[in-house]
Amino acid sequence: MTQSREVLAMMDAHTTTFGRKRGCTISRCGAFLLGTLFLLSLVITALLVYHFAPCADGALGRQHDASDSGLFAGRGFLGANSVSTKLDVRLPRSVVPVFYRLELTPFIWEGNFTFNGEVKIVVNVTEDTRNITLHAVDMKIDEAATTVQMHPPDNNGTIRNRMEDVGIDKQTNDTLRQFHVIHTAGMLKAGKQYTVYIKYVGYLNDYLQGFYRSSYTVGNQTRWIATTQFQPTDARRAFPCFDEPALKAEFEIHIARPKNMTSISNMNGTVDTTPIVGLPSYEWDRYERSVPMSTYLVAFVVSDFATQRSDDGKVGVWVRSEALDQADYSLKIAPQILKYFENYFAIDFPLPKMDMVALPDFSAGAMENWGLITYRETAMLYQEGVSTNSNKQRVATVVAHELAHQWFGNLVTPSWWTDLWLNEGFASYVEYIGMNAVEPSWKVLEQFVVHELQNVFALDALASSHPISVEVGHPDEISEIFDRISYGKGASIIRMMDHFITTNVFKRGLSNYLRERAYQSAEQNDLWDALTKQAHKDGVLDKSITINEIMDTWTLQTGFPVVTVNRDYNRGSATLTQERFLLQTSTTEVSDDKPLWWIPITYTSQNVLNFNETIPSRWMQAEPTITLSNLNTAANEWVIFNVQETGYYRVNYDEQNWRLIIQELNKASFKSISTINRAQLLDDALNLARAGRLDYATALDVTSYLAHETEYLPWKAAFTAMGYLDRMLVKTEGYDRFRIFALKLLDNIYKQTGFKDIHGDPQLTVFTRIDVLSWACSLGHKDCVQNAVTQFHNWQITPNPDNNNPISPNLKSVVYCTAIRVGGQAEWDFAWERYQKTNVGSEKDLLLHALGCTRETWILSRYLNWAVTENSGIRKQDAGRVFGSVANNVIGQPLAFNYLRNQWKRIKTYFGTSLLTINNIIKSTTKKMNTAYELKALYEFETEHSAELAIARRAVQQTIEQTEANIKWLDRNHETILNWLKRATA
Ligand SMILES: *[C@@H]1O[C@H](CO)[C@@H](O)[C@H](O)[C@H]1NC(C)=O
Ligand SMILES: *[C@@H]1O[C@H](CO)[C@@H](O)[C@H](O)[C@H]1NC(C)=O
Ligand SMILES: [Zn+2]
Repeated sequence: MTQSREVLAMMDAHTTTFGRKRGCTISRCGAFLLGTLFLLSLVITALLVYHFAPCADGALGRQHDASDSGLFAGRGFLGANSVSTKLDVRLPRSVVPVFYRLELTPFIWEGNFTFNGEVKIVVNVTEDTRNITLHAVDMKIDEAATTVQMHPPDNNGTIRNRMEDVGIDKQTNDTLRQFHVIHTAGMLKAGKQYTVYIKYVGYLNDYLQGFYRSSYTVGNQTRWIATTQFQPTDARRAFPCFDEPALKAEFEIHIARPKNMTSISNMNGTVDTTPIVGLPSYEWDRYERSVPMSTYLVAFVVSDFATQRSDDGKVGVWVRSEALDQADYSLKIAPQILKYFENYFAIDFPLPKMDMVALPDFSAGAMENWGLITYRETAMLYQEGVSTNSNKQRVATVVAHELAHQWFGNLVTPSWWTDLWLNEGFASYVEYIGMNAVEPSWKVLEQFVVHELQNVFALDALASSHPISVEVGHPDEISEIFDRISYGKGASIIRMMDHFITTNVFKRGLSNYLRERAYQSAEQNDLWDALTKQAHKDGVLDKSITINEIMDTWTLQTGFPVVTVNRDYNRGSATLTQERFLLQTSTTEVSDDKPLWWIPITYTSQNVLNFNETIPSRWMQAEPTITLSNLNTAANEWVIFNVQETGYYRVNYDEQNWRLIIQELNKASFKSISTINRAQLLDDALNLARAGRLDYATALDVTSYLAHETEYLPWKAAFTAMGYLDRMLVKTEGYDRFRIFALKLLDNIYKQTGFKDIHGDPQLTVFTRIDVLSWACSLGHKDCVQNAVTQFHNWQITPNPDNNNPISPNLKSVVYCTAIRVGGQAEWDFAWERYQKTNVGSEKDLLLHALGCTRETWILSRYLNWAVTENSGIRKQDAGRVFGSVANNVIGQPLAFNYLRNQWKRIKTYFGTSLLTINNIIKSTTKKMNTAYELKALYEFETEHSAELAIARRAVQQTIEQTEANIKWLDRNHETILNWLKRATA
């Protein structure tokens, strides 16, 4: 799955090109308080569970609310009677599926929205048992119709056509575990095969999970779509099934659909024109039997979409007919990337075709269903001349990500969700490689460092971070780990591995692993074993060391290290020490826990100047300190560690080496330090200072050289790190100093990039320009603001403003936001109208974000209200974005938080079980909090909603830790920074 952009967000006004969301934490003291509340909520929950359990199942068509799964949320500790026993949500292994034959008839119209379902599941019995336990949620099972039949023994001679019925005693529901249990009258025998038949009615919900409905309008007409999103645990909402990733089976899917619509599924289909009794306007589509696959990868879509196929017919795109031309780009690159991955993995794509659908409502960014990838529109559609370069890159990223999963994830699947990180981390790394293959000029392998690695550093440096390999059970726990840590850190440590065992070895080991495990499931150690074998064989890893041993220190431990380099300038040696890097050191509890990592050490120096060698010259073998006896570097020359930042760690130096580096950066020849490493120096320095490990004066001295920097990566790293300073200082006295300083740094680059989108500029130039303009305008740069306002007004007076936007695509974000910020209701209303009229998803996104830039409080309040109102024009999937953009506005932030607090009930009802959105809203509305007063409000919020907050537990904890950290940070650093700024701007 690719996450939605709210998760990856670009909510920070200063990171509009590609910035992803940062922030989040949890403190010991907050955790204690929460712990107490948590116990209390367990008791309440247990009571509620008891109360609702008898009627919670089969509540067909009922509006969900958080009690469905939310109240049972998040921790898997709930037993019906005992609150302390951990609930085992796993299926028994006595019965395993072999084959599903699924028939579905969706009734896609208002006033109905149900579907009839029949499923026949062939199962193997592996141990004698008297029950068949499988998953089923939110469906009405016609229990009288359920049958279990034994397959005839196929010893030749006995010809029996009829299968033998095994009687059924009763059927029960285990609501908490989402089980449906068929208790058989007789014993089911080990080694025998049976067929289970279940007939049921399901609900086409509007919660974007399971088999759900979506819609769009053409003129005044509403067009409906029935589609699916099953990962991780919602196939069970569409059909009764053994809904665990390791329980693979073959699928034969039949879908009855209105004759004027089409259906698609994982495999190729044929139309069966036999009339359907009672449904003259319907006909069946029958799909070929699939390869063995996990339930969460099953997909089907019924729509009236238009379609187009690649020249070889293998790849098809499906989209609203009005937007078909917007699929040209994804249709162009998908076949190329597919081909590239066939070579990369050295395994052919195993399915006959690949379809890609752009859906108007989709909760994630995209989903890698085998042979049928579903996307939200902005992740698949790109309109030349309307969408931005960043939209285009987003499409390439997501397409490459989902295609990578076709092998890594679909062909070989994690045995359980604990290894989700491997699946996602891997796809999140390889997406860059696939994208680089089709768009080499974008330099995405460099971009990786700022967009993934440095980005996830920010989260992983918090006490509340978690190991990427996490034990999970309950569906809510599983949903929780689809986070930046799993994706970004996973990707970053896999990249580190690619570099330390070298790419050839990495690819060979990987391919072996995929072949050996094809159509099965695997655990992380299976991959490590395959890579170790290859690395030993090719002699790149000492025989006494395994990948397992190295990688366990990165996957099982929380956080990441900072390596501190202390040079002995007389001897030419250096001592390296490692420690966990935390943004805020805990004061309430001293922990003896000192994690250590296997760290690949690479470095270069002023006289060697080799920024290409990323094979480690040494390892810190999970040891606290090592000494490099000879750096081969003179005392007046700098050294830089972690070449190309391929290692997942920060580096700190002694004061003198920092000074040598700063001197180099301020020379005309500063580009002798690689671009990635310049970005690393800025990111490391500013974050080391933020954590109290480096003097702020030194860190800020590193930034001074930016006055003559022109490249994207260093600027991006600086913008992100300085974004924190901006957020913290914006409400304090002395912010003017920060403004003057930042504008001074920007002076040269602003002149270089200019307020003009130049066609044919390289991707990174375009990205730099947008970031620079966005900072300049928001800091009140006169020329910038004036340009923005003029361009917006030109648009307002254009005769046909919908088809005739004079603002060039890449400048839209800054023009819209600035003009709305300095403008009034007229600008806002104009933008809102354009939002409603545009046919392009990415344009809608831009406008939605810009609408939060206004300074008019009443408009902001109304905007928040619309975000959680049905039919206001804002889709449910986009509500989080609205909160994010309002909260990003210094005036809107308190409004957004108050709204969240006052309208909690409404928000919760509106989003139902969609945890992701609520979490995002909490995070975005609290991100800038840094006063004791705001912290108090947060605690109160938590108390007010202690019972239901289960669903957003982690988000609230992180928020509290973050706010505490912000308060302390201001106390500790405000004066130093202000003094430095005063000197720098004197
Ligand atoms: C089910 O049992 C059959 C016959 O014993 C065997 O060939 C097949 O591999 C089994 N399938 C699964 C998924 O266990
Ligand atoms: C939905 O439509 C089908 C087919 O006409 C019908 O059998 C079913 O009862 C309807 N369900 C509801 C809830 O209206
Ligand atoms: Zn994914």
